[in-house]
Amino acid sequence: MATRNPGTEPVAGSRHSGRSGISGDRFGVASLMTTLGFIGAGHIGGQLARLAVEHGYNVVISNSRGPETLIDLVDELGDHARAGTADEAARDGDVVVVAVPLRAIGAVPVEPLAGKTVVDANNYYWQRDGRIAELDNESTTTSELLEAHLPKSHVVKAFNHIIAAELTTDGRPPGTSGRRALVVAGDDAEAKARVAKVIDRFGFDPVDIGPLAEGWRIQRDTPGYVQRRTADELRADVAAARRYRDR
Ligand SMILES: NC(=O)c1ccc[n+]([C@@H]2O[C@H](COP(=O)([O-])OP(=O)(O)OC[C@H]3O[C@@H](n4cnc5c(N)ncnc54)[C@H](OP(=O)(O)O)[C@@H]3O)[C@@H](O)[C@H]2O)c1
Repeated sequence: MATRNPGTEPVAGSRHSGRSGISGDRFGVASLMTTLGFIGAGHIGGQLARLAVEHGYNVVISNSRGPETLIDLVDELGDHARAGTADEAARDGDVVVVAVPLRAIGAVPVEPLAGKTVVDANNYYWQRDGRIAELDNESTTTSELLEAHLPKSHVVKAFNHIIAAELTTDGRPPGTSGRRALVVAGDDAEAKARVAKVIDRFGFDPVDIGPLAEGWRIQRDTPGYVQRRTADELRADVAAARRYRDR
């Protein structure tokens, strides 16, 4: 596994240790040192990893080419970051973000994610991903596809409807007037609450839009997709969303 300081082993209770330290974040809120795993460290995964270390999380990032290709990003992220294989990111993350092109979700490791909260940040772009019949006929959603691949995990839809670069520019402390909102959808209340907490720490108001099957309400071509919205505005957009077949 590539680390910023090769040869330095994590020590229990150290800034590297994953779960046992306490750290202040940008908004002055102490956060337990949860580790976020990333499967996919491109535009969205990399940007979420930046936000995570900024707010006191440890991160383990991975991509398809191997940890050695992530040394520059690990170096930028600092002592709370390391790179690994997708298996390692899945195993070591308390919460694991999947941020890969949708066509690649079949390669997401299954067993190391059993029992874990898994964030689905993905979108379906057939031009990029190829045609997926169940999405074209709207009989399922991207997150339900990931859930079918990870039947023992608790999948939560989040972070799919914000341009990656805006993650690090649009966050504001809780209670800020006009604070931007981001959705969570999922079938497991505890997993959803855990992700909502991450969203809040990252600087956004979490808006619960219901079970995973409702995630289509914030997919591409819906009113709230990649728009800056407050919680009330986002709720209105989600309610106004229409299936392609109903338009
Ligand atoms: N870009 C945005 O603003 C944005 C915003 C919200 C949601 N999204 C969604 O997030 C997903 C990722 O988008 P992106 O823009 O971040 O794409 P990207 O910049 O192309 O990054 C994709 C990442 O996934 C990795 N990857 C691909 N196949 C993998 C595999 N089998 N195992 C592990 N990692 C793998 C890639 O690694 P390699 O480089 O080594 O191949 C890369 O790190 C998409 O579904 C997209 O629709 C994007």
